[in-house]
Amino acid sequence: MNPAPVIAIDGPSGSGKGTLAVRVAERLSFHLLDSGALYRLTAYAALRDSVGDDDEAALAALVARLAIKFHGAGDAVRVLLDGEDVTRAIRDEACGMAASRIAGLSAVRGALLALQRNFRRAPGLVADGRDMGTVVFPDAVIKIFLTASAQERAQRRYKQLKDKGFDVNLRALLEEIEARDQRDTQRTVAPLTAADDAIVIDSTALSIEQVQDRVLELAAQRLQAVTD
Ligand code: C5P
Repeated sequence: MNPAPVIAIDGPSGSGKGTLAVRVAERLSFHLLDSGALYRLTAYAALRDSVGDDDEAALAALVARLAIKFHGAGDAVRVLLDGEDVTRAIRDEACGMAASRIAGLSAVRGALLALQRNFRRAPGLVADGRDMGTVVFPDAVIKIFLTASAQERAQRRYKQLKDKGFDVNLRALLEEIEARDQRDTQRTVAPLTAADDAIVIDSTALSIEQVQDRVLELAAQRLQAVTD
C-alpha cells in the first residue's frame, strides 16, 4: 500500500505557512503537523528542566521522554506537554528564538525525525516547517516553499501576536525575524532552503485566500494523479 500523501509547506517564519497549512488540512480533511511546535516544545522543556541549549545528548534524551499531545484542530488546537497546557507559552518570541537555537543541533533534529514521521496517516498529512520537503518527507506529493519580504512578515507577526493579546514591538519583531532567518538559512544541518522540486510562492502581495486557492488547485491535480 502507498504511504499516505504528504503536502509539505516550508518557508521562513511569518510567511503565512502556519495559517496556510491549517486551512489546506481542513479543506482536505488531512492531518496536520506543525513541526515548529515540536522545536518550540523541546526548547520550552529544556528551559523548564534546566537543560543547556548546547547540550546535544541531554536535549536528544529530553525529546525521547516528552509527552506531547495536540487536542482539537486548526486555530483551536491546544498543546499539552507532560499534561501542562503550554499552547500560549510556546508561542512567545523568546521560545521561538530558543527553538531556533536548538534546531541547529543535529542530535535534536535526529531525535525529532521519527516523531514527525509518525504524524503521517491516512487520508494524508499537511506538514508545516523548514525542512518538510527536503528532509522529513522528501517524497511529499506537493512541496510548497512560501516566502514574503521580512518587513511584511514582521507586520503579519505583529498583528497575529497583538490579536492574541501579546505586548509586541514591530521594530523588535523585524530584528528577531531577520536574526532567525539568518540562523535558519545558514545552519549546517537541514538549513532552510527550498527543495529542488518545490513550488516557490512569494506571498508578499498575495492574500491568504489567493495562496490557499493556488495550493488547493495543485492538490486537486496531484492527489488525483497519485490515486489514479
Ligand atoms: O515555525 P516556528 O516559528 O514555530 O519554528 C520555530 C523554530 O523552530 C524556527 O525558527 C526554526 O529554527 C525551527 N524549526 C526548524 N525546522 C522545522 C520547524 C521549525 O528548524 N521543521
